[in-house]
Amino acid sequence: MSALEKARRARLARLLNHEDARRAAARALPRGIREYIEGGAEDEVTLRRNAKAFRDIAFRPRMATWVDRPDLTTTVLGTRIALPVLTAPCGGMRLVHPDGDIGLATAASRAGSIHVASSAAGFTLEQIAEVQGPQWFQVYRFSSRSTMEHLVHRAQAAGYSALVATVDTAVSGYRERDFKNGFSYSMRVNARNAVKLAPQLVRRPAWLARYVLDGLPFEIPNTAQITADGKPMMLTEMTKGGAGSHSPTWTDVDWLRANWRGPLVVKGLLTAEDARRAVDAGADAVIVSNHGGRQLDGAPATLHVLPRIVEAVGDTAEVLMDSGIRRGSDVLKALSLGAKAVLVGRLPTWGLAAGGTAGVERVLELLRSEMVRTMRLMGCRSVSELDPSWLGEDTIPL
Ligand code: FNR
Repeated sequence: MSALEKARRARLARLLNHEDARRAAARALPRGIREYIEGGAEDEVTLRRNAKAFRDIAFRPRMATWVDRPDLTTTVLGTRIALPVLTAPCGGMRLVHPDGDIGLATAASRAGSIHVASSAAGFTLEQIAEVQGPQWFQVYRFSSRSTMEHLVHRAQAAGYSALVATVDTAVSGYRERDFKNGFSYSMRVNARNAVKLAPQLVRRPAWLARYVLDGLPFEIPNTAQITADGKPMMLTEMTKGGAGSHSPTWTDVDWLRANWRGPLVVKGLLTAEDARRAVDAGADAVIVSNHGGRQLDGAPATLHVLPRIVEAVGDTAEVLMDSGIRRGSDVLKALSLGAKAVLVGRLPTWGLAAGGTAGVERVLELLRSEMVRTMRLMGCRSVSELDPSWLGEDTIPL
């Protein structure tokens, strides 16, 4: 290991929790990119609700029990994973660090889990699929059915093991911080945004230097969006002027079910009715998600609606959840309420900003060690034992 690499690992080892990772990311990134990650829609009511929901639930521990090595393994859609935490699909990751989506996929695989590749990725879906280990592909509609179909055919050919249809993004949420900062998926400085962007970029010379050394122009192509005629297309172009929904509608879900050979997952549901509808349409799993508070402000905390969704479809489909997971204890609370596994979005993104692939590995290791310690303190031997009896009855949401 080179001296430089050693120093980097030592610096990452000093990140002791999610807040350290968030701060390290804030130091590394230009303001526009930092706030693109951290921010939520409108008044960020749902963003705050997500965090509060986890805090408000208490454990019911079983004391005087010695657990030597708690078992974290579980199975999702037939794949055995060592950590019940998947890395969520996140667009724009190549703006965060040159390792981008490849870094997320590599770290997830090293942790023995699964990466969900975003269709707004900075690498082609074929490049991301080359990373060893199981991966799922998340699909948007991008205003036209043909774009979605094109991506699905490529994802199938590239060997993704499941398809995730994100359905909470008919239009983009109103993330006001992005407008204030002049953020766009392409950080190309032009006459219109120069006043807002240039000072942010100059203040982060390390970030700038990394991109210059990496040979990347500021216009970082979201190359997964190469169109049928083989031309790369920017995300901003894909979504411009289209009349239709950016995310699949129920009609599109039917098309996906009929045309995707393999497990289908619907992400972004918040009610028992919608979950039933997804399962009736042939979904093998649903992800209870409010997109990390980035879409519909005023949406409920996912932890609050999870029990009802598990009750509605848990017998016939797997239920996963995300939005607000920051600690190993949060994972255990979600699993106790019936989630098979969870996804994390911002947490690995902060790790990526702080130290590329190794930074993502560090935050996943933090989650793993927090889960282990918490389970030993709870007297819980295996995540398969978790159910609502591990939570304080007076704190469980109805
Ligand atoms: C996202 N999310 C997201 N979801 C999706 O289906 N496709 C995408 O391209 C993106 N892009 C994206 C970018 C960034 C920067 C973030 C933070 C999130 C939502 C993501 O998959 C997940 O649902 C949330 O991030 C979960 O909440 P936490 O873990 O960030 O609180």
